[in-house]
Amino acid sequence: MAVEQRELAANEVLLEVEGLHTQFFTEQGVVKAVDGVSFTIEKGKVLGIVGESGCGKSITALSIMRLLPEPRGRIVSGTITFHPPDGGSVNITKLDRHSAEMRSIRGQHIAMIFQEPMTSLNPVYTVGDQIIEAIQLHQNVDKEAARQRAIEVLHQVDIPDPERRINEYPHQMSGGQRQRVMIAMALSCYPSILIADEPTTALDVTIQAKILRNMRRLQQQYGMAIILITHDLGVIGQMADDVLVMYVGRKVEQASVRQLFLNPLHPYTQGLLRSIPLIGLRGKKLQPIAGSVPSPYNLPEGCCFAPRCPQAMPKCRQEVPIEAEVEPGHFVACWLYK
Ligand SMILES: Nc1ncnc2c1ncn2[C@@H]1O[C@H](COP(=O)(O)OP(=O)(O)OP(=O)(O)O)[C@@H](O)[C@H]1O
Ligand code: SF4
Ligand SMILES: [Mg+2]
Repeated sequence: MAVEQRELAANEVLLEVEGLHTQFFTEQGVVKAVDGVSFTIEKGKVLGIVGESGCGKSITALSIMRLLPEPRGRIVSGTITFHPPDGGSVNITKLDRHSAEMRSIRGQHIAMIFQEPMTSLNPVYTVGDQIIEAIQLHQNVDKEAARQRAIEVLHQVDIPDPERRINEYPHQMSGGQRQRVMIAMALSCYPSILIADEPTTALDVTIQAKILRNMRRLQQQYGMAIILITHDLGVIGQMADDVLVMYVGRKVEQASVRQLFLNPLHPYTQGLLRSIPLIGLRGKKLQPIAGSVPSPYNLPEGCCFAPRCPQAMPKCRQEVPIEAEVEPGHFVACWLYK
């Protein structure tokens, strides 16, 4: 019985995204930034989302956070169901994005580290004041308790001498330290889900590896789930349990990291894997995927990858591929596996 309960707890679903369509309504036309994406996140798991620039990774994250520039960019259909740790469920797509309920989910339950840390830290306040404010916004604690918690999280993300550095301004820190401050701020309210959008892309490789290791350690310690967005499959290999590959707003493949690396099915995933320097394959010539991501205003009929796909068939240019489960837990949307 105890074992059964532990297994249930391990598979606790925190977030379900079902048929998400997010679009931008611009002068030039409609951009289908997220076009029917579904996935779930379980407690304690890291889900990687990977794909080239413009594939809809950030917009998927901003849809979950309800931080889209509405009404120009908005969720047009689908559901995003969040299951708070204290029970129940809430459909995020139905909430007013300014409501108290949404504000409490955002920050307290689902925290996000943004692609550009400098734009999310305010240059005129000390990093300490910003973390303390975030804590006091969501937790009923006095300023001194919030300050202690801020020092604790700065320490956890490996900022040396946090008692002193808490009084520094963002510009007094290096890029890597600012990114750690962002992670500290996100962790300060014990979120159940952390969304990290390219958290280390701007940093040099050694610092990147250190921050990722630190994030993984904290994730295990806190039992959080992480949605890790990156264009780098190397980072996915290091960090994620499961991977979702996106191409032009659509999910083209989803699998465990092991399945994806050992047996990539979608020609796009295969192309991505051939185009990155993987450990063990160093020295091998990298082959970038030929061609480029199509303009969102002029998408090809059928499979969006057809113009770049070495295995495209006539059917591919007519019909959008339907997702198939090729092996347990391994999904692909490609006519090669109908
Ligand atoms: N404010 C906006 N107005 C119009 N279109 C937008 C806007 N923001 C994003 N888009 C479009 O939505 C699509 C998805 O963008 P998104 O930012 O999610 O890509 P991404 O996968 O995060 O790319 P990157 O790796 O460059 O961060 C793109 O076609 C993009 O041009
Ligand atoms: S559906 Fe066709 S064009 Fe698209 S990835 Fe598969 S084989 Fe290539
Ligand atoms: Mg992005």
